[in-house]
Amino acid sequence: MTKAIRIHRTGGPEAMVWEGVEVPAPGPGEVLIRHTAVGVNFIDIYHRTGLYPTPLPTVLGLEGAGTVEAVGPEVSEFRPGDRVAYANPPMGAYAERRVMPAHRLVAIPSDIADDTAAAMMLKGMTAQYLLRRTYAVKPGDAVLIHAAAGGVGLILCQWAKHLGATVIGTVGSDAKAELARAHGCDHAIVYSREDFTARTRELTGGAGVAVVYDSVGAETFMGSLDCLRPLGMMVSFGNSSGKVPPFDIGMLSAKGSLMLARPTLMTYTARREDLVASAAELFEVVERGIVRIEVADRYPLAQAARAHADLESRKTTGSLVLMP
Ligand SMILES: NC(=O)c1ccc[n+]([C@@H]2O[C@H](COP(=O)([O-])OP(=O)(O)OC[C@H]3O[C@@H](n4cnc5c(N)ncnc54)[C@H](OP(=O)(O)O)[C@@H]3O)[C@@H](O)[C@H]2O)c1
Repeated sequence: MTKAIRIHRTGGPEAMVWEGVEVPAPGPGEVLIRHTAVGVNFIDIYHRTGLYPTPLPTVLGLEGAGTVEAVGPEVSEFRPGDRVAYANPPMGAYAERRVMPAHRLVAIPSDIADDTAAAMMLKGMTAQYLLRRTYAVKPGDAVLIHAAAGGVGLILCQWAKHLGATVIGTVGSDAKAELARAHGCDHAIVYSREDFTARTRELTGGAGVAVVYDSVGAETFMGSLDCLRPLGMMVSFGNSSGKVPPFDIGMLSAKGSLMLARPTLMTYTARREDLVASAAELFEVVERGIVRIEVADRYPLAQAARAHADLESRKTTGSLVLMP
């Protein structure tokens, strides 16, 4: 048995129950991990509310770091005592201990702490594929990043700046604007009081940006299309404010032959070689100090509901970590 945060029904944070769950012995190709830190991500809220349907009951969570306690048959890459991290299904990270397929794990470099690893794997590999693969940012590109002071946002800002972009970010408050600017954001727009579309046009001399990284969804999608230059790339990768409603694709031609992507990390790291390459690139930018990982808050694992309430009420910045 182990203690875990499980949901038996979808709903608010109160649906999250701290209870005992069975942990099987690791089977072929599997590893038993004792978590030392667990990452909190907005996707955990989508699973909890049912926006992304999942079979119930389920232990929440897709991201964790910890120590290998035991390995099953046919596992050659890891052994007991190794420090490992992951950021993908199967769900079940909000637990003291769990079993994971070995081929979904990466070793944590010795100079990266476990809580930093738990704070960066999912958000950082997302930033890696968005900036390097979905749209490869080039020096001189103007880019727009929504929720720039958030977990993914702060990593995107720093990395995009390093790639030579002019970084425009949107944020919900002046304090968040300051934080985004301290992490590579050249122009922070407080979109709760400023029209981010008009301001982005103004900041780019009317030209528009090469790419918009939009994780806010419903509230920003249409405005984001109007921030793009002709042939620009709209990357819709999240729904923090709700799902983007269906729309007429003819709008993409009318607004300048725009491209639209709706990517997910799960596709970009589905193959083991892509997972390893993405993690390696992330570890490199963190180890070189190009990207600082901000663990803004730590919560006891048993109080994960509090972390969810804070994240969805827009109170937080950077990454949140649960401590078992
Ligand atoms: N597709 C993928 O592969 C992938 C992978 C990772 C994450 N994501 C997405 O990226 C986004 C960021 O994830 P995260 O874990 O780093 O969270 P986060 O950005 O730290 O938190 C969400 C932020 O979104 C902004 N927001 C705007 N409208 C909101 C609303 N109505 N309710 C709540 N928040 C709102 C808030 O910032 P302001 O106050 O500054 O507006 C809030 O702090 C999420 O949408 C997530 O689903 C997608």
